Amino acid sequence: MKYNIKEITDITPEQINQLIRDRRTIYPHECTGEKIDDKIVWQLLENVTWSPNHGKLEPWRFFVFADEKREELGDFLINLYKKTTPEQEYKEEKAIKLRKRMSQSSHIVVVVARTNQNPRIPAIEDIEAVACGIQNMQLSAAVYGLASYWGTGALVYADETHTQFGLSENEKIVGFLYLGVPKEDLVKEATRKPIQEKVEWIK
Ligand SMILES: Cc1cc2nc3c(=O)[nH]c(=O)nc-3n(C[C@H](O)[C@H](O)[C@H](O)COP(=O)(O)O)c2cc1C
Repeated sequence: MKYNIKEITDITPEQINQLIRDRRTIYPHECTGEKIDDKIVWQLLENVTWSPNHGKLEPWRFFVFADEKREELGDFLINLYKKTTPEQEYKEEKAIKLRKRMSQSSHIVVVVARTNQNPRIPAIEDIEAVACGIQNMQLSAAVYGLASYWGTGALVYADETHTQFGLSENEKIVGFLYLGVPKEDLVKEATRKPIQEKVEWIK
């Protein structure tokens, strides 16, 4: 069958250009704490499935937290922060911020890459495929009018977090994706360097 995406979608190049440019990270503190319909979250996850991935490995796995399970995830992170931070560096405000981050989000998606399923495919390519998947989720969230924030850092990458999720040595947490409903009248601005600074066009 002839394949021509221009014949099966009404999306114009200008619309996709604008979506990519105007998608912004919206943090949980910029959200209301209102719950997103689970069906939309399922659709965002479905959109990961259609990301490019080498060897058709579909190397993604997710743990989704909503409702009171958000608080359980918060408890885990706060305890880990307490356990891994020297007393003189510990800041109670950081623990409070972690707790608030959970309650101001709707769903928190722990995104995992499964690597080494095929000896011919390097682990970095599985992680790259999962990163494409996260971009798909973030772009999709943007068109639903929803907030998303890709969070990483010491607590996300800690061995204890890996163990908490029962992951194997071939699995890696790529990030926590916080989804939420943005507060009204939120203003987000962003800048990027001109692409010309990053391109050598070989002629
Ligand atoms: C791999 C990756 C990890 C990130 N981790 C964090 C993080 O730990 N904390 C944070 O504030 N933002 C994190 N971000 C989000 C960036 O801060 C955000 O994308 C950047 O500020 C650009 O803003 P924009 O997404 O609105 O274009 C991460 C983004 C990526 C791609």
